[in-house]
Amino acid sequence: MKVSFLLNGERVDLTGVSPQTTLLDWLRIERGLTGTKEGCNEGDCGACTVMVQDATGPAALNACILFLPQLHGRAVTTVEGLAGADGTLHPVQRAIVDHHGSQCGFCTPGIVMSLAAAHTTGERDHDSVLAGNLCRCTGYAPIVRAAEAAAAEAVPETLAARPALPDSAAEDDLTGGAAAVIESADALADWCLAHPEGRIVGGATDIGLWVTKRLDDLEAVAFVGRCADLRRVRITDTEIRFGAAVTIAEMTRALVPHHPDFSGMLNRFGSVQVRNAATIGGNIANGSPIGDAPPALIALGAVLHLRKGRARRTIPLEEFFVAYGKQDRQPGEFVEAVSFPRQLDRLACYKLSKRFDQDISAVCGCFNIHVSDGVVSGARIAFGGMAAVPKRARAVEAALRGQPWVEDTIAMAWDAWEEDFQPLSDMRASAEYRLETARNMLIRYFLEDLGAATRVREVSA
Ligand code: FAD
Ligand code: FES
Ligand code: FES
Repeated sequence: MKVSFLLNGERVDLTGVSPQTTLLDWLRIERGLTGTKEGCNEGDCGACTVMVQDATGPAALNACILFLPQLHGRAVTTVEGLAGADGTLHPVQRAIVDHHGSQCGFCTPGIVMSLAAAHTTGERDHDSVLAGNLCRCTGYAPIVRAAEAAAAEAVPETLAARPALPDSAAEDDLTGGAAAVIESADALADWCLAHPEGRIVGGATDIGLWVTKRLDDLEAVAFVGRCADLRRVRITDTEIRFGAAVTIAEMTRALVPHHPDFSGMLNRFGSVQVRNAATIGGNIANGSPIGDAPPALIALGAVLHLRKGRARRTIPLEEFFVAYGKQDRQPGEFVEAVSFPRQLDRLACYKLSKRFDQDISAVCGCFNIHVSDGVVSGARIAFGGMAAVPKRARAVEAALRGQPWVEDTIAMAWDAWEEDFQPLSDMRASAEYRLETARNMLIRYFLEDLGAATRVREVSA
């Protein structure tokens, strides 16, 4: 397998590299570029942040869970490549110095790269930009001050211009042995038939950890980040459809005009770096009971598009999750897309986690309740964190449907919750807490529908 990309403006061609080499290891061990730091090695701390550019623009990514083949045809900038050729610091670097934004400095290269990527795209929500960068000693106030100061400065020419990305290689070069960089859904279908037990890598935000933490050997792997048909978002008059390799960041943006609350909830999915890598296909296919996107998609009535060779089938998304660790997917079959009908936006998503940012849900409840003439005409409610799989609250839905949309109806649905869910206690929450908060979410949905201000988030220093 051959992988070509730009590193700090210079072309790199790699042949015969192990497909599970992370960018972080390669930079530090093979290239001696030790400015990119290793903190957690699992996507949580941002010390390893680099900027990666492709046709979709620049993005901050965590190098510790980014495999070299994911870089094919892209341009990587590390902290060593940020200053101008004459040594002029990037505006963010200058501002970090001027505003005393660094003490021990271990987090600083990652913070600088996150802020530089945001500076290049014009993103100004510094709190959100920094949610995936942990700093233990400086404190965020001087860092945010530096970000604000840098925002007034122009993007350096070297970063403003689109880099001349390496052309796509011949298919044979990309498909060395069992590891492949795939460029179309048809090619992926063939690869999956030839490697029915092979691993598809979307953003590697799960798989990356299997390698760095569990020391797994991936064997046959297909990287789908360049798969044009799987990267497509299609919005028609009747349907919204996301290809499996659409990233959570792309999905978050696409959902704003249609289901803003879903989009808002996805803004709390991991960090900027995680959302820039993670795909919707991976979030569904991993079968996690606490994945954030499935409950919202189930509440919207989504169907999953599965493909094996030339054969395609669709199933309601909730039926994909058969049991813990078991999904309705055959060997050689892959997720091609997920879609749901266009509809009046009645969706509300409540993600409950110990931290606001960069945390996995303890409970994630999604409500899509339609009311006509004061009566519940349709109800789809789905939860993550309440069962071994993302699950619909069918008994609660049935208790609401056809009833007047009043507080008494919600009270009458009280017992139905226990029919639907017998949650577990774990480190994130107790069973009792989960059940009680799930019930409360319905009350909150009802009150919000009446116009009550329930979304109060106050941070004071
Ligand atoms: P990958 O790691 O590439 O793959 C995951 C699994 O899906 C693998 O088994 C892979 O083979 C399979 N797969 C991928 N694409 C396909 C396909 N097209 N067809 C069939 N199988 C496929 N998740 C949340 O839900 N909410 C969070 O807040 C959140 N925070 C996180 C924070 C951190 C720091 C990290 C590291 C992870 C977090 N995650 C979170 C988990 C993870 O980011 C998501 O599950 C993500 O959507 C996985 O997508 P991916 O593309 O990275 O999957
Ligand atoms: Fe912590 Fe990569 S080392 S996110
Ligand atoms: Fe020490 Fe941020 S400056 S961790």
